[in-house]
Amino acid sequence: MVTISSNTLLLRNIWYYAMPSTALKSGQMQAKTLLNEPILFGRTHQGQAFAIRDLCPHRAVPLSCGWFNGESVQCCYHGWRFDAGGHCTEIPSLMADQDMDLSRFDVQAYAIKEVQGNLWIYIADRDRAAIRPPRFDVPRVPGFADDAQPQFSYTVTFPCFIDHAVVGLMDPAHSPFVHRAWWWRDGDLNPEIKWFDPSPYGFTMRKHHMANMGRGYWMIGGVPDNEIRFYLPGIRTEETTTAKYRAVNLTVMTPLSDAETEVTFQFYWDIPWGLILKPLLAYMAPNFLGQDRDVVIKQQRGLKHDPVLRLIKDSDTLARWYYQLKNEYQRSQDENREFVSPVKTQQLRWMA
Ligand code: FES
Ligand SMILES: [Fe+2]
Repeated sequence: MVTISSNTLLLRNIWYYAMPSTALKSGQMQAKTLLNEPILFGRTHQGQAFAIRDLCPHRAVPLSCGWFNGESVQCCYHGWRFDAGGHCTEIPSLMADQDMDLSRFDVQAYAIKEVQGNLWIYIADRDRAAIRPPRFDVPRVPGFADDAQPQFSYTVTFPCFIDHAVVGLMDPAHSPFVHRAWWWRDGDLNPEIKWFDPSPYGFTMRKHHMANMGRGYWMIGGVPDNEIRFYLPGIRTEETTTAKYRAVNLTVMTPLSDAETEVTFQFYWDIPWGLILKPLLAYMAPNFLGQDRDVVIKQQRGLKHDPVLRLIKDSDTLARWYYQLKNEYQRSQDENREFVSPVKTQQLRWMA
């Protein structure tokens, strides 16, 4: 048995999920706190998404309180102006003959990537000397092009530190207790035997025929194959394929702070009659994630007492891998060396 005690390590020098592309309209800006950092997201009139620190370097007023003209943001206090790259381009109080190097007042800009209908942000180390370039690209939803869009997207905030959201959502043993619903499954426990392999910055539940199907899957035709992948810092794809169709669930977790984690749950599919799935998912997703969220809220009551948590064999192995992956990512950063996956190919068995 392995135990873990609480810490609030948030990985940096890594891509985090920010928001669905549709949440950021052209010519608009949106303030959002990620990893305890105030960030201003915006999209220029040309359609380019950007992210800069949401804090005026003059007197610390959030830039999101100001005005965005589709090109640059103007602070509401003294009108300093910043472009999409965070460069200070104007200080209105300066006289024409008062020369000043405005670049001294640039605000931090974040690298942004827009793929498959989502915005991702690279959160670099706070310490300039420890900033490292991305080691791996933004994970892709398998089998869909970079310009594909999710057909369904739902976001909810869990009032907990990211580890509890990740461990809770990947936990294979909680379903019969947390997710009791007529459309999902009955209360009986069945044996599950699955192979797992290491995959880049995470692990994969090897592709297999779905024997104990949840009832929600009958609609995509035939007995589907299923493959689940997990990537740091908190990204999970579940690919379900039949001879005819493909449906992928993308679940991403991003820490807003040490006490809040945003969970976004999306579906991509190539099912021609997929439209009818939307109202079904609009009902199922909030229900399903609400059940995970409810138990996390209960867990918070216990965590206040700073307990030691137990990880048991097999059914908690994914959780153990998550902690090991996270720690190894941090250590390999600190020591400026290659990441070595702690995951070993293994068969896991549990009742669920
Ligand atoms: S505080 Fe932003 S311009 Fe003065
Ligand atoms: Fe769950």
